[in-house]
Amino acid sequence: MRYRHAKLPNTSPDFEYDDFNPPETLWWKEALAGLQAKPKAVPPKFFYDQHGSRLFERITQLPEYYLTRAEIGLLKRHASDIARVLGPDCELLEFGCGNSQKVFYLLAELRCAAYVAVDICKEHLWSLCGRVAAAYPGLPVHALRADFSRPLDFPPSLRDRGRRVVFFPGSSIGNFDPEEAVRFLIQARRTAGPQGRLLIGVDLKKDRALLEAAYDDAAGVTASFNKNLLWRLNRECGADFDLNRFRHRAFYNEAQGRIEMHLESLCRQEVSVPRETSIHLFSGETIHTENSYKYEIAEFQALAARAGWRAEGVWCDERDLFSVQLFG
Ligand code: AVI
Repeated sequence: MRYRHAKLPNTSPDFEYDDFNPPETLWWKEALAGLQAKPKAVPPKFFYDQHGSRLFERITQLPEYYLTRAEIGLLKRHASDIARVLGPDCELLEFGCGNSQKVFYLLAELRCAAYVAVDICKEHLWSLCGRVAAAYPGLPVHALRADFSRPLDFPPSLRDRGRRVVFFPGSSIGNFDPEEAVRFLIQARRTAGPQGRLLIGVDLKKDRALLEAAYDDAAGVTASFNKNLLWRLNRECGADFDLNRFRHRAFYNEAQGRIEMHLESLCRQEVSVPRETSIHLFSGETIHTENSYKYEIAEFQALAARAGWRAEGVWCDERDLFSVQLFG
């Protein structure tokens, strides 16, 4: 589906919009398969229904969740340097843009030829692209509703646009395991094209206490975010999870270099899910819901090299908590 979004009838369009969202599939079938596996695991992409996305926005404002603040701080501080290295007239293509403010720090310094936002959430795309179009009249702005973890089929108007910079902030790369991350980075290389570059936010390894607090905040917002997955299964597929019988667990698995999030069953229980299936959990058994990998700078550069990327620059926040890395 393709159309132009115009603020008012008979005015020039603010931005172009293409919808590549696959037809609504029974998403929970994949989740249920994960609940029947051993050990039980449900992919983190299912966190983000409307309520989950709101909870995630609250997470980014928590005192313990340093990632967003550190990345914004470093973009504010280093945007002009990043822009100098990138040079003028590139097309900036942001993956998983959400409704975030981050790209504005780059746009303020970059003289870019076009901005393309890719996200699965239409509301976020319309809000962000509307704001970019309003702030930069004359800048071609294009919203693509698509799952960026899959190969992107660009509309003709976006093919062969010259130098493309794929911007992937937020350390979302950390939610892939390293092998998936390499596959994603290979895909990003195809999307960026032969002269393309990748500007990516990567959270760094650090003290366990700081890491664990970021994923188990005192106000319990991350716990609600994690449990929303069960609530969503109740609402959308008729399961009967009792949320009080689960607790949120987050810990740093140092050997794997990742934060793990789980939902731990507080008792032996049976949960019924559609199609007369039921799931058995023993007391202490967990459903693994998310990994968030943390990297040393050289370690991430080695991973990106496996996908054919060559390191061109690294910027960190003042406390060296977070990095934004450039590859070409
Ligand atoms: C989206 N992603 C980078 C977040 C992270 O830090 O891994 C998701 C998140 N999970 C719990 N808190 C935030």
